[in-house]
Amino acid sequence: MHPDISSVLISEEEIRSRVSQLAREIEALYEGRELMAIGILKGSVPFLADLIRKISLPVSYDFMAVSSYGEATESSGIVRITYDITGDISGKEILIVEDIIDTGRTLSHLKAFLKAKGPASVRIATLLDKPDRRVVPISVDFTGFSIPDEFVVGYGLDYANRYRNLPYVGILKPEVFH
Ligand code: PRP
Repeated sequence: MHPDISSVLISEEEIRSRVSQLAREIEALYEGRELMAIGILKGSVPFLADLIRKISLPVSYDFMAVSSYGEATESSGIVRITYDITGDISGKEILIVEDIIDTGRTLSHLKAFLKAKGPASVRIATLLDKPDRRVVPISVDFTGFSIPDEFVVGYGLDYANRYRNLPYVGILKPEVFH
């Protein structure tokens, strides 16, 4: 285990198994249709890459980037789109793919932004959810794991852009970010 991690919250094997289950849920809901996954940079990349390869429907994908946290550990409440999808999404089934939902501000803003482009649907898949931290109510269609309010990193999640490449989700030692 990485020396900055106090404990593993979700192991590599637990992630792998849950991602496969989510893929089955997604296939059931979109049966016979194509979907377009939109990964929110940067944290969603490992989850998006693993999830789409488990889905046996036609899946295209694109990315968006938003700026909300910077290098701080708390949300500023300001959501700014810094990179937008490139193509037309009118009439498409859109699945936003996130690593974590915390206050809900980012996804609530993004969902409204994407809906305004006229897709057939906009749904949300997140690997992690911290429901205790919610400020803006948001309905999440596919959730990997609901977790307590701990500072977690790994499998895409960072602290100051570090730890994203850990294959598990771990709790960061408080002395690392204090
Ligand atoms: C994280 C996460 C979401 C957002 C969730 O991104 O990927 O986009 O915060 O927080 P919210 O529910 O409070 O809005 P972050 O800003 O850490 O960017 P990153 O993915 O590039 O690390």
